[in-house]
Formats: sequence, C-alpha cells, structure tokens
Amino acid sequence: MELDQLIMDDPEQGLFRVHRSTMTSEEIQRLEQERIFDRSWVYVGHESELPNPGDFIRRRVANRPMFFVHGKDGKLRPFLNTCRHRGAMVCRQDYGNAAAFQCFYHGWTYDNKGDLIGVPDEEGYAPAFDQSELGLMQPPLVEQYRGFYFACFDRNAQSLDSYLGDVKVFLDIVIDQTEGGIRVLPGPVRYAIRANWKLLVENSVDGYHVPTTHQSYMQYLKDQGVSMTEPKGRSWGMDIGHGHGAFSGRERSAGQYGGVIDHFTDDVKVRLDKVKAQQVHRYGEEREDWAPGRVNFLVYPNMVFVGKTTLRTIWPVSPGLMEITGWAIVPKNESAEEQQARINEIPLFQGPGGFASPDDLEALESSQLGYAATEVEWNDLSKGMDRAPKPDDELQMRAFWRQWQADMLGLPQARNMHDLTKSASS
Ligand code: FES
Ligand SMILES: [Fe+2]
Repeated sequence: MELDQLIMDDPEQGLFRVHRSTMTSEEIQRLEQERIFDRSWVYVGHESELPNPGDFIRRRVANRPMFFVHGKDGKLRPFLNTCRHRGAMVCRQDYGNAAAFQCFYHGWTYDNKGDLIGVPDEEGYAPAFDQSELGLMQPPLVEQYRGFYFACFDRNAQSLDSYLGDVKVFLDIVIDQTEGGIRVLPGPVRYAIRANWKLLVENSVDGYHVPTTHQSYMQYLKDQGVSMTEPKGRSWGMDIGHGHGAFSGRERSAGQYGGVIDHFTDDVKVRLDKVKAQQVHRYGEEREDWAPGRVNFLVYPNMVFVGKTTLRTIWPVSPGLMEITGWAIVPKNESAEEQQARINEIPLFQGPGGFASPDDLEALESSQLGYAATEVEWNDLSKGMDRAPKPDDELQMRAFWRQWQADMLGLPQARNMHDLTKSASS
C-alpha cells in the first residue's frame, strides 16, 4: 500500500480511517524511525532529575542509548552512550553520581562534561590522535523548555519553541501548578505492551474508551458512593497543532484533586483548593478546566501527560511491541504527605495491579491481535468529525494521525489541517 493511501481523511463527509498496516508493518516502523523519531524533538529528561553536579541518568531516546549528565560546570548534557574508541556503552548504570565515566572495555575515561580525559598508554598514540576531539557526543540539537530537555537528531529542524507551539500553554499549567514549580521523581514505572506504540498514543488522549474499558473502576467509584456527573459544557477535545492534542475529562466529584481516586486527606484538599483558586486567578475561569488533573495531553510524537500527576514516554520496539516509562510529577513545595498521596496514585491507578493501565493494556493487545485478521483493513476514527469537539470524540487522535502522515510523506504540514468544524471548545 502506498504511503499516501494509509489515511482516509474526508472532512466533507465526516470520515477518517487509518489503515491497519500502520500498526503491523516493519517497513512502516523503519520509516517512522527515519521520518518521525529522527526528525522530531523528543523528550530526554527533566532538570529536577539531576539536581547535583555529577548526577546522571541513563535513558533510551529515539532508539539510541543515551545518558543525561549534570556536569561539574553546572550544565546539563544528554550524551550518546557510546565510547569514542570502539563503541561500548560508557554509562552502565541507570542512575547515580560520578565525577568521571570510565569505559569498561579498554578504560578510556570521560569527565562529567563529556571530555576525554584519559586513555591508557598515551605514548602509544601518534601526535595526530587528538583527545580533545574525542569527547562524548551529544545529539545535534538539544534545547529545553522550562526544565524539560528535548533532543533532535535533525540539525535542520525548527527550534523547540516553534515545534512545541501552543502545547507550551499546557506545559506551563503543569509547571505552574504551584508557585514553586515541579519535580519529576526518580524511580519511574517501566513496562511493555505487546501492541503498536501508536495505540497507546491514541489511548492516552482517548475519552471514548473510559466508560467501557474502565467499567470496573467506574463501578468502584459508584460503590464508594461517588456521584458521577455528566460531562460539563466545558469539557472538550483539542487539536493543539503540530500533532499535539488534548482532552479534558469528565468532571467527577472525586478526582478533581489531580488523580481520579479520592484518597487525599481533608488537609490536602484544603490546600489543593487553594492551588485551584490560584490557577483560576492566573489563567482565568476559561482555563480553569485546563487545570492538569482534568487534562491529558500529548506532546507529539510520544510524550504524554496524564493529568498533573504523571508523565510518560512511549517508544516502539517492533511494530507489535512498545516500551513505556512513567514518572510521577510533584510540586516542589509540597509536604511529604501530599507528595505521598500523589506517589500512591501511580501504582493505584497505573501500576500492574492498578485500576486503569491493566485494562488499557488488555484493550491495546487485543486490538493488536485483531490486526492479524488482515481482511479487515481499516480502523475508524471519525467520531465527532462534524461537531464541536467533545472529550470522547476522536479529534485529538486525528490531529496526531494528520501530523504522522505529513511527517511520513515529508510534507511541511498536514494535507487537512483540521476537521471542518474546528473550534477549540464547545
Ligand atoms: S570501547 Fe571504550 S575504551 Fe575501548
Ligand atoms: Fe484508559
């Protein structure tokens, strides 16, 4: 199938379909690596993960081994984790603190600024061998937005600032959830799903599946006597531009404090009400419902914020396998108790025995298995195409796919920028 035939996008008729080979084809995965992950700005890490000089974390980014280091000069640098000698991985621990990194293979040594500071038997090298040229390499482009570091492997790419565009507003709301800013906590949750990575991208901004996939959770809330109110007028789905998308979930009496499980103590609630009031003050009533906790959003292509408590990245391993890492986000100035309540949220909701992620995992793996029936060729994502977007419509997924297609075809922008009824809120 030709690349430009993989998406059927017909705003006139209100139909949007995606060919299922996008989820199963090795060739498409190879092209995604080349045209999406090697050209987009991709998330590396947050400055709060490396508070002290020498701190480092190891990470896989865009299919490359990397490590992210706080240098003794105070600068944070993501390095390609491969020795300039003959390739071995220089950093072999997930995190730690080090003044220098010695390659275990032949002993070349780099300082935490990436400079090559020692090779065994230096006299064995001719004068043309220049150590100063053999420091650890960084991705061609590295930029940060308010502490979130991104890399790009295409040196001709647009700036991070223009790439992020309007999704910066959402990042701001996460960052400014309290006056002191945020921390990304160490000890992420890591897991794999036997499904194509784009299925979790879709799922992360999908309000449609909640009542059915998460039925047991809904029942639990009901059993707890939680009143489930209908979506309010101001809940919405949003195409933020450049493939970024968001949806604001249903208003629930539980869950307005960031997570969806109402396990905060009264003290914490009082404080969080204050935070909410500050947010209304800062962003106005209009954006009060953008407060993270009610909003899931995607930073294209594979970085997702789930409310105000979690950040995740989704990387493909093969067409039918993805790897996910999820981090807890906490306000810097939060008390230990409040912080613990948030941290509990992750295993409770997203962990292997949690309320939500195991159900999502089952749905995604089930879809992937369904694609073996190749006679059925198309997925449908038409919902809400000719009305003002609601959170359980599929606009935000169409926004992703339109950018995906533009990138795969090497077009400067998507052929259809929007649904015909493009409106930011209902
Ligand atoms: S590969 Fe690193 S020192 Fe040889
Ligand atoms: Fe879900």
